Amino acid sequence: MKNIKDKPTVLVIHGPNLNMLGKREPEVYGKETLEEINARLKENGKKLGLDVETFQSNHEGEIVEKIQNSVNKTNGLIINPAAYTHTSIAIRDALLLVDIPIIEVHLSNIYKREPFRQKSLVCDVATAQISGFGVKGYLFALEALKDMIKD
Ligand code: DQA
Repeated sequence: MKNIKDKPTVLVIHGPNLNMLGKREPEVYGKETLEEINARLKENGKKLGLDVETFQSNHEGEIVEKIQNSVNKTNGLIINPAAYTHTSIAIRDALLLVDIPIIEVHLSNIYKREPFRQKSLVCDVATAQISGFGVKGYLFALEALKDMIKD
């Protein structure tokens, strides 16, 4: 896909309650705030030659619309759908609309947690999944996307 901007664009979508990172169950999700994570993503993006846009919403429909609006505008997608990972057919369906590499990221290892978290409705529509590396998972995802994005 030819990008209208000079650099390929990566959209990072954070789902519900991730705006509370830092305060929210730090023993599970770490001490870094979402602002700090987004700043690291943008900084690493610069080094990799990627334009990083970040978006957080607590609302399923807003996430669906953001994915829909990214069609033909974004070269790669990183998504942590948070609790919607386990419930949202709507987000899964929206991801099927975008023909770009998609990395699903979870801070915690969802397979070591409660049974209801061990099922992802998006893992088989994503290109890959990273789970349990904390904030590093987002940075690994960005690095992987750099190689996956075709000019
Ligand atoms: C999460 C795991 C989900 O089960 C949970 O609802 C979240 C965060 C993670 O990043 O580990 O909000 O996606």
